[in-house]
Amino acid sequence: MHSFFLPAILVLVLPLLSLAIHEDSFKHSHHHSALSKHLHHRDDTFNTTERAKDADLQKRDDTKYVFMHHYTYDSWMTDFIQIAAKGVDAVALNVGRDDWQLKDGGLDYYANRDSERGKPSYFRIDGRPMISSYSGFDLGATGWQSIRDQTGGYLMPFIYGMDYQRLRSNSDFGFFDSWYCWGCAWPQGNYYKNIEDDKYYMDILGDRYATTVSAWFYTHYTYKNFYLLGDGWLLNNRWEELIAMRDQLTFAEIVTWNDYGESDYFGPTDNGEQPDGTTWAVFDHTPFFEMCDYYITAFKTGTYPLITDDTIYFWMRPHPAGIDANNDPLPKPTGWDWTSDTLWSAVFCSSTCSVTLQVGSVWKNFEDLPYGVNKIRLELNETAYGPVTVSMRKDGQEMIYYTTGDDGFQYRPTTEQYNYNAWVGFARASDYSPGWY
Ligand SMILES: *[C@@H]1O[C@H](CO)[C@@H](O)[C@H](O)[C@H]1NC(C)=O
Ligand SMILES: *[C@@H]1O[C@H](CO)[C@@H](O)[C@H](O)[C@H]1NC(C)=O
Repeated sequence: MHSFFLPAILVLVLPLLSLAIHEDSFKHSHHHSALSKHLHHRDDTFNTTERAKDADLQKRDDTKYVFMHHYTYDSWMTDFIQIAAKGVDAVALNVGRDDWQLKDGGLDYYANRDSERGKPSYFRIDGRPMISSYSGFDLGATGWQSIRDQTGGYLMPFIYGMDYQRLRSNSDFGFFDSWYCWGCAWPQGNYYKNIEDDKYYMDILGDRYATTVSAWFYTHYTYKNFYLLGDGWLLNNRWEELIAMRDQLTFAEIVTWNDYGESDYFGPTDNGEQPDGTTWAVFDHTPFFEMCDYYITAFKTGTYPLITDDTIYFWMRPHPAGIDANNDPLPKPTGWDWTSDTLWSAVFCSSTCSVTLQVGSVWKNFEDLPYGVNKIRLELNETAYGPVTVSMRKDGQEMIYYTTGDDGFQYRPTTEQYNYNAWVGFARASDYSPGWY
């Protein structure tokens, strides 16, 4: 029996998890019996049978895979159902150094110490289990080679701070099947995200290169206190970059489901897993994930889906970037002066539509936006303190009216502690009934 440890990420297949909902035969598989016990009573109607059939990847074919990076085991079952519903293929479960082991050379994972929850199915490529990591340079090329020899795994680590030229196929780390760029999800300076970093790694890795997409980044601890530029519709633009590069990509990882400490979470905030001292992850980011649905389909199929339900997505920070907090022991985060005070919005129009954005008493009309995704924004100033209101009209008829009102989110001139996280909202025509909101 071989047993060793590394900072690992388990890659778990979502279609097979979901299958347990519909397919009785899976109840009899020892891998899924415990899962199906938990899932069987659920009403979820999404059908992932077809995706499950091609869970084994033929490298270099046209199949694309989207992963979701996920921390912790708590609530993972309900999380996985929400994540699978948007077409994400697998979850990359970040388990840290101590929480896992490889057994018998066969990757028999203990996905949870609570045996009641069972063992999830594992993401495989040509039958080889995918092994990912965050870091792992200290294993050395021989350590990684030994992992692959013992497991037959398909290696897709992210290793930072190394000489990346060593990832070239004729160099000592060149045997990696893939390598993904964690930091490529965000601009690493005062500019909007571009693909210069992707191109750098693609030159080294060719079609072994994998990459990431995210919506936001802000962290505010004594030991790390910085903001990365989410301005400029980062999430929409990053997905568009990935879709434009899709011929050269096989894997895209959404980062993350629940890293509250770095504000890059796409999931809800109410499951109580935030690191001590996290004061800023008070905003639900699920509208960001909702918006990913459209792009995940486009990345995987090469075609943007038809927009049938008019939807306005909108997001902003809760206080002006330049103010001093009243009661924060830490200084402003690095990068605070890169961001502008703006309500960002992406309007998904099923046909020509007109939209109004308003924050406090600052507002702007956008007349006759065409079919498609329209990126619009409202610059904020000192008259913008107050609630957020958005509306849509077509041919003079109101399609959407939504406001946070007096009790919901407000843009405020002061703050006790800094918060450069994004508040996110969305409103869709199919949910709107004139006269109430
Ligand atoms: C799911 O899709 C498969 C393959 O298209 C089909 O055979 C099956 O009937 C579907 N199941 C449900 C519950 O819709
Ligand atoms: C704030 O912005 C609005 C909309 O652009 C503008 O009409 C108003 O004059 C601005 N107020 C100040 C104080 O700059």
